[in-house]
Amino acid sequence: MSAAFEHPDVVLCPGGPMLLRGDHVVEDADGVRHRTTRAVTAVCRCDKSASFPWCDGTHKVLPDRLRPA
Ligand code: FES
Repeated sequence: MSAAFEHPDVVLCPGGPMLLRGDHVVEDADGVRHRTTRAVTAVCRCDKSASFPWCDGTHKVLPDRLRPA
């Protein structure tokens, strides 16, 4: 198995964020582009984060029906 498969750049966490490894550009719903600056960045998929587009952990307190698949 290649290193890319063992350490993918994009990981979808069930019920939680999308993890991005390395340098990426995330475009929000308003078309604003944000660069990732950390080794691993958590991008919100539940739309409830107070620091959108980044995950702030809010998904953990949401009922299952409001959490991303
Ligand atoms: S996925 Fe974590 S706050 Fe939205």
